Amino acid sequence: MTMFTVTVDAERCQGHARCLAFAPEVFDFDDEGYAFVPEENQRFAELPENVRKAISSCPERAILVAEEPAP
Ligand code: F3S
Repeated sequence: MTMFTVTVDAERCQGHARCLAFAPEVFDFDDEGYAFVPEENQRFAELPENVRKAISSCPERAILVAEEPAP
């Protein structure tokens, strides 16, 4: 089994907020208006459709997905 870890690259994020629009239960915003994924929201056994859409909709390609074997 594979686990997916979703994070936002703070260097790339420009605050377009598409991620938040698609998946408000996963993404959050910091005080400067940049997105991040809170620790407790990062890991998935399968990527939900709305998270996939958030990833493909980010104009900066700032949303990163790491794939690793589940423990
Ligand atoms: Fe940032 Fe992309 Fe979301 S630029 S705010 S990660 S849509």
